Amino acid sequence: MKTLTITRPDDWHTHVRNGALLKTVLPHTAKQFARAIIMPNLKPPVTTVAQALIYQDEILQALPADMDFTPLMTLYLTGKTSEADIKLAAESDAVVAFKLYPAGATTNSDAGVANITAIFPALSALEKYNLPLLIHGEVTDEHCDIFDRERLFIETHLNTIVKNFPALRIVLEHVTTSEAVQFVKATAKTVAATITPQHLLFNRNALLAGGIRPHFYCLPILKREQHRLALVAAATSGNPKFFLGTDSAPHLSSLKETACGCAGCYSAHAAIELYAEVFERADALDKLEGFASFYGADFYRLPRNTTTITLEKQTWTVPSIYGDAEHSITPLKAGETLSWRLR
Ligand code: NCD
Ligand code: ZN
Repeated sequence: MKTLTITRPDDWHTHVRNGALLKTVLPHTAKQFARAIIMPNLKPPVTTVAQALIYQDEILQALPADMDFTPLMTLYLTGKTSEADIKLAAESDAVVAFKLYPAGATTNSDAGVANITAIFPALSALEKYNLPLLIHGEVTDEHCDIFDRERLFIETHLNTIVKNFPALRIVLEHVTTSEAVQFVKATAKTVAATITPQHLLFNRNALLAGGIRPHFYCLPILKREQHRLALVAAATSGNPKFFLGTDSAPHLSSLKETACGCAGCYSAHAAIELYAEVFERADALDKLEGFASFYGADFYRLPRNTTTITLEKQTWTVPSIYGDAEHSITPLKAGETLSWRLR
């Protein structure tokens, strides 16, 4: 049987939620990944080190006893985040980064930042204390077409942030456009990007052609095929500025299959297998390990993992749901066949 053994990967962007949902999804992430950057957009958001420690504890309590997994905590940047908050975070072992959500950009972002220039003092403190800034890069102007929101964010905000804070490490999260790929490639070493499996596998037809398919709705929204191709080229290029971040974002099926469905694709059930399909199709399986297991750790200045995982070329069918019928999550590629399986 064809197998692929790589250094154990990390997920540099995931949502594991809390409560019952956390218990359902966490084993999926922990089975594949040694570490994951845990997004702070709970209700209410995780804005202080004290809250992050409570959340980290809840995650560790929910972790099955036989699993070895480290949650890397992040704090949610708001208009009120002070230099003192940032200093405390820098001194804590648990918190590794801050997340910037433009207010209203995505799920649970109401408490996010309404005026980006107004938080420049906080960005200056992040630069001073050497904490990375993770950005949901979309403008929230209701007049801006949803397919243009990432490109416009780069033009109006990201350029300025990078110029004003040259030593600030920035991850442009879940990039979806050729413009984002170009920007990251052309900018200083301090700027990197994560790429999700859904943006590598699908274009906007998956969401909208032949019927509306809510399980492909996530933010930033899927784009045209030309953008997907630019993302695949970036991910499989071996450029260390691009690394794995699933943005796995579980929502109950009932909250997605409705007149106004939530944004977020669930991919933690088969993340590394989904990426392996992409890399194999691009004839670049030899580049998967760098993307999945090395470049993110290097960017965050954390040690690379030393154990390995093995994938087998073996077909399996993704369950149609996870959880129970009343509290189900519909995973990416539900009911479909995958060609790689984690051993
Ligand atoms: C995420 C979520 O559900 O928390 N949703 C999504 O569509 N990606 C939030 C986010 O990362 O934008
Ligand atoms: Zn996310």
